Amino acid sequence: MIYLDNASTSFLKPQGVYEAVDRTLRGGAGNPGRGANRVSMEAAKIIYSTRKSLADLFGVNQPEHVILKSSVTESINTVLLSLLKPGDHVISSVMEHNSVLRPLEKLRLDGVITYDLLPCSHDGSIDISRIRDLEKENTKAVILSHASNLTGTIQPIGEVRSKLRNKGIFIILDAAQSAGYIPVRLYEMDVDVIAFTGHKGLLGPQGTGGFVLNDRINEVLNPIFTGGTGSDSLSLVQPLYLPDKFEAGTHNLPGIAGLGAGVRFILERQPDMISKYIINISELLLSALSDMTSIHLIGLPGTQNRLPNFCLSFDYYTPSEAGFVLENQFSVITRTGYHCAPLAHKALGTEKTGALRISFGHFTTMDEVEELIVALKYLDEVKNGD
Ligand SMILES: Cc1ncc(COP(=O)(O)O)c(C=O)c1O
Repeated sequence: MIYLDNASTSFLKPQGVYEAVDRTLRGGAGNPGRGANRVSMEAAKIIYSTRKSLADLFGVNQPEHVILKSSVTESINTVLLSLLKPGDHVISSVMEHNSVLRPLEKLRLDGVITYDLLPCSHDGSIDISRIRDLEKENTKAVILSHASNLTGTIQPIGEVRSKLRNKGIFIILDAAQSAGYIPVRLYEMDVDVIAFTGHKGLLGPQGTGGFVLNDRINEVLNPIFTGGTGSDSLSLVQPLYLPDKFEAGTHNLPGIAGLGAGVRFILERQPDMISKYIINISELLLSALSDMTSIHLIGLPGTQNRLPNFCLSFDYYTPSEAGFVLENQFSVITRTGYHCAPLAHKALGTEKTGALRISFGHFTTMDEVEELIVALKYLDEVKNGD
């Protein structure tokens, strides 16, 4: 199998991830913070170590500012539900995943907020300077994805604050796609929250993720989920210190152990090796695609400002047919359809059939890309039904 759906979830994982999950499940690591026994302490150490690695990755020096959740989706919901109050306005973009669009739309339908969306150009990039046209007196937050899950386009997030008239507006970043591939740093990018997922570029297991936040936004957020933390157990009120404030219930310990191993793998290599290698294999594919006449790349033509996600349309095949041929004749796994990004497809003109996305990962090999190119050449040359 040639697995090229890493933007959905990464596969393979580093050896250390498999070992960490296995060790945690078999080794009797207990429930962190629940008691002072040996296994509970061991679990707390594992969680701290992952939190610390994530803090290093996201450029925060207080590991307690890393909140561990089950996904970026749960993280975004937690932050938005806690932050937004009746009458607030939010700015986002048409390039967002449903994990941003649906919470915003639900809050709008519930009569809590209004929101406006930045448009994108044909290559999936957002013109950040247009943010001023959408900004209102009551704009409370801007929420944007760092990179598109569809086209791989990296957005100029570092420019958002300078373009806003009101510098106090909260900026929330969906780093689901970018984390693990390019630097994502809370203070350097001047954002208030980075929401991340563990199972894509960070190479952890599914069911892991979280968010990193600064003090300014922490002061205005209240817990959404409340419950056991193992701390202040006599109090009926959720502790308000981090990370307990946002972490009710037993953690996904095997997942968090695996995520820690994935993040350490990234930290040991970043930034150079991964990005240079991925640029090389991306160039190989982009150059082959530029010679194909019936397969069209939607998005940026080069490797600048992009992740290795490639969105394709075909003259002779629907995306589903092309995906079927790639899988059944060439064992190449891709993702077809709408990629949970309905407004991006609409903006890019692919809302009728969706598109086919190829996404490389840290372990995609040159040989695999060459085999992919052979398969794509076949689709380029052979009309459906011939
Ligand atoms: C940009 C973006 N945001 C959010 C998500 C949701 O990730 P998860 O399902 O892990 O919460 C994805 C995953 O597809 C994504 O690509």
